[in-house]
Amino acid sequence: MDSLRDKVAVVTGAASGIGEAIAIRFAREGAKVVLADVEREALDRVSDALSAQGADNLALVTDVGKEEEVRALAEQTVDQFGAVDILCNNAGVFTGGLAWQSPHQDYEWLIDVNIWGVVHGIRVFVPIMLGQDSDAHIVNTASMAGLTNGPFTSIYYMTKHAVVGYSEAIYHDLTSIGSKIGISVLCPELINTRIGDARRNRPRDLPGFDFKSPERDAAEDSLRQLAADKGIDPSAMAERVVMGIRENRFYLLAEDGWRQSCETRLEDIRLARNPSLSIPAEMTGEDG
Ligand SMILES: NC(=O)c1ccc[n+]([C@@H]2O[C@H](COP(=O)([O-])OP(=O)(O)OC[C@H]3O[C@@H](n4cnc5c(N)ncnc54)[C@H](O)[C@@H]3O)[C@@H](O)[C@H]2O)c1
Repeated sequence: MDSLRDKVAVVTGAASGIGEAIAIRFAREGAKVVLADVEREALDRVSDALSAQGADNLALVTDVGKEEEVRALAEQTVDQFGAVDILCNNAGVFTGGLAWQSPHQDYEWLIDVNIWGVVHGIRVFVPIMLGQDSDAHIVNTASMAGLTNGPFTSIYYMTKHAVVGYSEAIYHDLTSIGSKIGISVLCPELINTRIGDARRNRPRDLPGFDFKSPERDAAEDSLRQLAADKGIDPSAMAERVVMGIRENRFYLLAEDGWRQSCETRLEDIRLARNPSLSIPAEMTGEDG
């Protein structure tokens, strides 16, 4: 897709962090932006900021884990703007803890948002895009955690590996049928957002909210601290996304340190040796 001008772009998780930065960038490129998120006030703040810049936008409270809400998002987008050209399945949440201690409901929460959120986006929006028979593009936000592994964060790793594998398979599906829909998987590194406070959006009626463990606290505290101290600005992810859409690039990845961790993992697999712990220094806080 050469230009985003007058394209209709839906961004989930648009009220904060990477989604907000993508929405702002899309508006600057001249796109009409549909902002979807569970946080009403934050969503309105982003919508007001876009409107103040004269950008056409629509803000819709949407829980991406609920298929009927994603269907309503698509219907209202088409009602308002007549088409959907770009979809960013970006909403995502984080929790830490040992795999066997983590409450069942932590699994449900992360799988609902991080996996089902993407699945609902694909199942609802791809048929609309195919029906339009014009150039379209999907960006699924995974993580460099979807290509690596480490301790105390197993649920998050599991969901992000799922998003990478699912996106690769969809790439092959779309190519096999000769569609005009491109797809990218965005794998951010450490970004300065509110991901370390993701629990603010964990449904309070889901049991297990108050579960505590040293491993969970350590993972969440350290992500919060590292994102604030060493995370890069989310606008860099918006830049990466726009490049991916323009150039129809699938893997939108972090720079070399992270890719070396991926290579170590692939080498472990090639040699069938046990998993190395290969996490870039920025994530361990050991790079000064
Ligand atoms: N920040 C990082 O270091 C980092 C690294 C790798 C991947 N990611 C991924 O980037 C994406 C965006 O996260 P972020 O870092 O901007 O965090 P963030 O917390 O700043 O933003 C996430 C947004 O998603 C929204 N959200 C949560 N649950 C939702 C739901 N059920 N339906 C709709 N929206 C919902 C939140 O309200 C929030 O506005 C996530 O998928 C995350 O896993 C972030």
